Amino acid sequence: MKIVLGVCASIAAYKSAILIRMLVKEGAEVKVIMTPGASDFITPLTLSTLSKNPVFSEYSDRKSGQWNNHVELAAWADIILIAPTTANTIAKMANGICDNLLLATYLSAKSKVAFAPAMDLDMYLHPAVIANIAKLKDNGNIIIPAETGELASGLIGEGRMAEPENIISFIEDYFCKSISLKGKKAIVTAGPTYERIDAVRFIGNYSSGKMGISIANELKNNGADVTLILGPSHQNNIDSSIKVIKVESAIEMYNACIAQADESDIIVMSAAVADYTPSIVSNIKIKKTENKLILNLEKTSDILHKLGEDKKPKQILVGFALETDNEYDNAVDKLNKKNLDFIVLNSMNDNGAGFQYDTNKITIIDKELKSQVFELKSKKDVAKDIVNKIIKLSVPNEK
Ligand code: CTP
Repeated sequence: MKIVLGVCASIAAYKSAILIRMLVKEGAEVKVIMTPGASDFITPLTLSTLSKNPVFSEYSDRKSGQWNNHVELAAWADIILIAPTTANTIAKMANGICDNLLLATYLSAKSKVAFAPAMDLDMYLHPAVIANIAKLKDNGNIIIPAETGELASGLIGEGRMAEPENIISFIEDYFCKSISLKGKKAIVTAGPTYERIDAVRFIGNYSSGKMGISIANELKNNGADVTLILGPSHQNNIDSSIKVIKVESAIEMYNACIAQADESDIIVMSAAVADYTPSIVSNIKIKKTENKLILNLEKTSDILHKLGEDKKPKQILVGFALETDNEYDNAVDKLNKKNLDFIVLNSMNDNGAGFQYDTNKITIIDKELKSQVFELKSKKDVAKDIVNKIIKLSVPNEK
């Protein structure tokens, strides 16, 4: 693993030397960027000797005239780890301030960024610091929480930078988890389907696609190779490495799913597929000549039911049930009839759950009929709960 290690001006900078030694011992390649004040706490010579690489601090090296390219450093890294991170650097990172090489590299990051705060206990508890850390987490950075113990000020409390061995196990855990679905192929369906009536009209539903897209992104974050089969949706927050197949109608979604299913280890049907479609589609606009218009509808094929019939051994099949009444029994009925590993139940009776919302409240029911009831949370966090359940059921690929 290639690690850019950012070192800030903190008394905990002495632990960076131990951290580098341990990382190098574990086989990592380490390039160090120090903030300008960090060299008051530990010398660049120590860190360059331990990392076996030059230590960067300025945009250019005045002696050699060499340009220390922050974009190249960021692109090189598999992870940017900032340890120790001071309250000052945290504030600058949270607000996009870019007045040194480390911050410029952080803003150019292509990889995950993990940061280990180090400060006195009152600073760590200050609302401004708490807000900045929350902002960094929202932006996708990983916090390695400070530990409790004796601080440089002599006070005892939370604020000590995590010990180097704890930082290393934190990073290992994070990356092991993030590759736990590596080599697995996943299909996720999302959004509504539109069933054409005539040249300008369709029957649809209010599904936004948000839940399915969050699941697809989360599967991708965990290393899966994801294909998203997406009905008409205006969402654009899809991870760029996900393959997207756009479909419109239930039959198009059916064909796309069946074509991919045999090869897939994981299938999550979160789309709100139309149950009925017009028997006849007019190629021209239907005129309003009659007082009443009766549409003849016929049942669409149930995609999930077909996938359940053809389910491969070890394949994980997940369905959704959006219910208004008799919720648990209806969901269990679908779980059994469609041969699912688990079903995600949403009730329209829960505020903030269902179509269009950014939040959802789910119950997961598995085939042993064990239910897990989750509180209302963002669809992103709901996706994490669903994907964690998939990870638990997932069998590692044979080598
Ligand atoms: N589903 C599907 N194909 C359909 C209809 C539904 O694959 N033609 C899938 C949905 O994506 C969902 C699950 O089946 O994962 C349950 O969908 P839902 O609409 O709740 O239930 P239905 O089986 O359609 O039953 P009903 O509408 O009568 O509640």
